[in-house]
Amino acid sequence: MCRHGPRRRAVGVSRSRRDFLRAAGGLLGAGLLADVLAAPGMADDAMPGMPMRTTAARLAAPNVPLVNPAMLARFVDTLPLPTRARPVGRREHPAWPGRLLPCYRMEMRAFAARLHRDLPPTPQWGYAGSTPGPTIEVERGEPVLVEWANALPARHFLTIDHTVHGAERDKPEVRAVTHVHGARVPADSDGWPEDWYVPGRSALSRYPNAQDAATLWYHDHAMGITRLNIYAGLYGAWLVRDAQERALGLPSGDCELPLFLCDRLIGRDGQLYYPVSDDPAAPWVMQCQGNAVLCNGKLFPYLEVEPRRYRLRLLNVANSSFFELALTHGLVFRQIGSDQGLLPAPVERTRITLYPAERADVVVDFAGLAGQRVQLQLHGGGILEFRVGDRGRRDDSALPAHLRPVPRLDIAKAHDRVLTLGEVDDAGGNALRMLLDGKRWSDPVSERPHAGSVETWSFVNLSGDAHPVHLHLVRFQVLERRPFDLFAWNARRELKYSGPAQPPPPHEAGWKDTVRADPGMVTRIAVRFEGEPGRYVWHCHLLEHEDNEMMRPYELLPG
Ligand code: C2O
Ligand code: CU
Repeated sequence: MCRHGPRRRAVGVSRSRRDFLRAAGGLLGAGLLADVLAAPGMADDAMPGMPMRTTAARLAAPNVPLVNPAMLARFVDTLPLPTRARPVGRREHPAWPGRLLPCYRMEMRAFAARLHRDLPPTPQWGYAGSTPGPTIEVERGEPVLVEWANALPARHFLTIDHTVHGAERDKPEVRAVTHVHGARVPADSDGWPEDWYVPGRSALSRYPNAQDAATLWYHDHAMGITRLNIYAGLYGAWLVRDAQERALGLPSGDCELPLFLCDRLIGRDGQLYYPVSDDPAAPWVMQCQGNAVLCNGKLFPYLEVEPRRYRLRLLNVANSSFFELALTHGLVFRQIGSDQGLLPAPVERTRITLYPAERADVVVDFAGLAGQRVQLQLHGGGILEFRVGDRGRRDDSALPAHLRPVPRLDIAKAHDRVLTLGEVDDAGGNALRMLLDGKRWSDPVSERPHAGSVETWSFVNLSGDAHPVHLHLVRFQVLERRPFDLFAWNARRELKYSGPAQPPPPHEAGWKDTVRADPGMVTRIAVRFEGEPGRYVWHCHLLEHEDNEMMRPYELLPG
């Protein structure tokens, strides 16, 4: 469940390193906590009669018997493939006068579905009553409208923490607002977390789609309960296509599919179990890790494939787990894209690690494997089986050696922002919450880039864990990760590097919208802020962190 070990192993931080950081973090945490308490605005913020926690809660043992996935039969259900959303009509929008734009309607509904043949149906929430929801496919430069309708029940089925900012008792239990992750959208359509609405209401959003082909995804973003709404199933794919990508001849049609990966805890009665702390008044937990890994909403599914190339869009939609993926039979992934579309050239990988919200677009070639059963493995265990048929249609797809140039951003005149990722600890060194640059959500906006400008953001990770940092609206390039001296920072707020800069590996050399910021490192990105002025957000995509103050507004100023 809430294991710490695997995450740290994946980023190469040993136990002793973690202890060292934890000890250092304790000192730092005390300082940060003092900063927070002294911050202006704190007094108005704190709810009267709501004492702030000063000791970290512990994970409570589940109060219901849970499914042990190891006991379930493997590969007995077919892999569900999301349907393709169809516009319900055409409509005008004042932003594009005189044009009739395709208009979609996506209704969020409760439904029940079996996660596995041998489990009772699981109540979930999903767009159009399915999870993943229907895939919205758009063409670059062709705007669409979407009416996101909240048709959910009046009560939430997962436990809300009313001490979390934005989820206080005076807020309705069921609230939703949809964000398209990675989309370049006007602020009024971006899914501002406080613009949630209740069952019976809906919001009309406009999407210009003025961006390169990429694997985007839509999901809920309601303030203080995003982790619960996404855990309940509120996510789906948003694919941007363009002529340049189409001309490459990559596998398409039924040889191209999304693979949404997430982990869950499931009660033996089929109900989703979301972990809680041992404090009923403050049930929020720092991480949520499940033992059952769902592929497109199923546990251990299989897919019949032909002995030819396939294009798989891998998406990590988990709350806080990272996934390390590999294939059996010596098969490799040829990664062709990352978060924001195509890489300059395919990258051959035997293993792919994805942090929450990261995507990898890969081509897998089953040629020569007729009759075999290939597994997609997660941390060494099979989660999905590909059954390769004896014959198939002729494979006329291509995998060109050059995909799309990714010109490096010119950062010579870029404004650099140094922003910390830090944890607020209790006296025992246990994390109470995480903050971005020591600030809370409700603190005044401090990041105000100008439209059209290039900035570099340096994430100084003072905490003991890796955080996937996501900026709305923009795409960015990873410049480097570089170890720094935590003591120098704590003592003098001095950024002193303690080793050479590590350039991003080839699979991170494309456009990204979410970047893994490792502990003990400064992770630096270059961003060109393109889009309509307005308020957007940036945050950690570990949903437990995002919901509890590790999210900040930023404001795009006119150019
Ligand atoms: Cu995946 Cu703020 O979003
Ligand atoms: Cu985080």
